[in-house]
Amino acid sequence: MTATAQAALQPIRSIRTAWRRFTRGLGDLMPKGLFARSLIIIIAPVVLLQALVAFVFMEEHWQQVTARLSAAVVADIAAVVDLLELNPGEADTEEITRIARRRLGLNVAVLPPGPLPPAAPKPFFDLLDRNFSRALIKEIGKPFWVDTVGRSNLIEIRIQLDDKILRVFARRSQTYASNSLIFISWMVGTALVLLAIAIIFLRNQIRPILRLAHAVDDFGKGRAVEDFPPRGAREVRAATVAFHDMRERVDRQIEQRTEMLAGVSHDLRTILTRFRLQLALIEDKIDVEPLKKDVDDMNRMLEGYLAFARGDAGEETMPTDVDVMLRDLGNEARITGHETLVSFSGDPIVKVRPQGFKRCLMNLVKNACRHGKRVAVTGIHEHGFLTVFVDDDGPGIPYEEREDVFKPFYRGDQARNIDESGTGLGLSIARDVARSHGGDIRLDQSPLGGLRVSVTVPA
Ligand SMILES: Nc1ncnc2c1ncn2[C@@H]1O[C@H](COP(=O)(O)OP(=O)(O)OP(=O)(O)O)[C@@H](O)[C@H]1O
Ligand SMILES: [Mg+2]
Repeated sequence: MTATAQAALQPIRSIRTAWRRFTRGLGDLMPKGLFARSLIIIIAPVVLLQALVAFVFMEEHWQQVTARLSAAVVADIAAVVDLLELNPGEADTEEITRIARRRLGLNVAVLPPGPLPPAAPKPFFDLLDRNFSRALIKEIGKPFWVDTVGRSNLIEIRIQLDDKILRVFARRSQTYASNSLIFISWMVGTALVLLAIAIIFLRNQIRPILRLAHAVDDFGKGRAVEDFPPRGAREVRAATVAFHDMRERVDRQIEQRTEMLAGVSHDLRTILTRFRLQLALIEDKIDVEPLKKDVDDMNRMLEGYLAFARGDAGEETMPTDVDVMLRDLGNEARITGHETLVSFSGDPIVKVRPQGFKRCLMNLVKNACRHGKRVAVTGIHEHGFLTVFVDDDGPGIPYEEREDVFKPFYRGDQARNIDESGTGLGLSIARDVARSHGGDIRLDQSPLGGLRVSVTVPA
């Protein structure tokens, strides 16, 4: 791309970046829950529409109507003023006042001449005042004083004539389109009713989604999931049914795997037992020690496979003192002659499957003992997670090998040299257990110089 094309694209890019930043900012501001978000999606357009309608109504209709009403009253007053000026006699004044009251709905009185009262404070929302004053100036053109606030349902007008002051009371409703308040109350009222209905209906829609989310979460963490009927919208029901089907399939598969492996190892064990017996019988004829050792190794491997196949299926999660568990493991490592450091911080009671979790950590500690001299086991329970670090000062595992060691039956060359009896299942089992608790295992460089294995599970 040429430099000019690059330069031409520059503004587009910056607009795109700004837009992305804006949407991200909006996303941060938006509430995170589905419930609140759906409410906003439903309510925001309604409120916007109502606000728009109200604005247009106020600006156009209401103002116009009020202006016309004010103009009509002012025209009536102007007529009274004209009549009074044309017929200044006392009897005429009385007659005109009477007609004004009866026919025009205006309470007119003539006061002796004098200065007009000082201007009253203007109301905040002074549409009426503004309209009325404008009409008075236009129609009558004499000094005047208006009070639209003083009395609730009357407005008072004083006009300075040549030799007297004319005081007029008009009904507020005569001059003012008062139905706007009703209009606004209706609008706010209907918006509130709408909000209430939306809240009730949405809550019923969101509940099944939450229940499903909890169930999936529990299943992922290997906890018992109760059966619950599909509820809510069609899509949510479909998801619930799919979840139940999946759970059944997964359970069935695990069961089949366990049964098959149990069967195979049972059969093999029988043969191994027969082997042992026969070896015992031919003892004095040849040297059977190596054969016996092989049989023992095979037996141990078989136990390992069985443990792997069994996983921790069937075991229930329960509150367990992990601090005590780590101390036990540390003591076992100490017995085998390793310098061992155990520490724990945070609440030691964590919901795990005790046997499975212990087997997981035991495999890690055994590995650390096999490869190193010093071992450190550190537990930290904070922010909803339990993390256990198992460190050693051995050779560690090269970066490229760190995924491979989790494969079943995988053993590093060095490990074979150290100890031939390993099966290469330790880490696979450990990861299986961690994942069935909804967590995982990571491998890193240890501060002790060897391998650091971190087990993290939600707690
Ligand atoms: N702490 C460690 N330091 C160095 N290498 C390790 C360590 N832990 C595991 N490994 C390497 O990872 C491989 C796989 O470990 P894993 O625990 O699965 O099997 P294993 O220890 O060889 O046999 P098993 O645990 O079944 O007796 C080991 O063979 C070894 O090469
Ligand atoms: Mg191992």
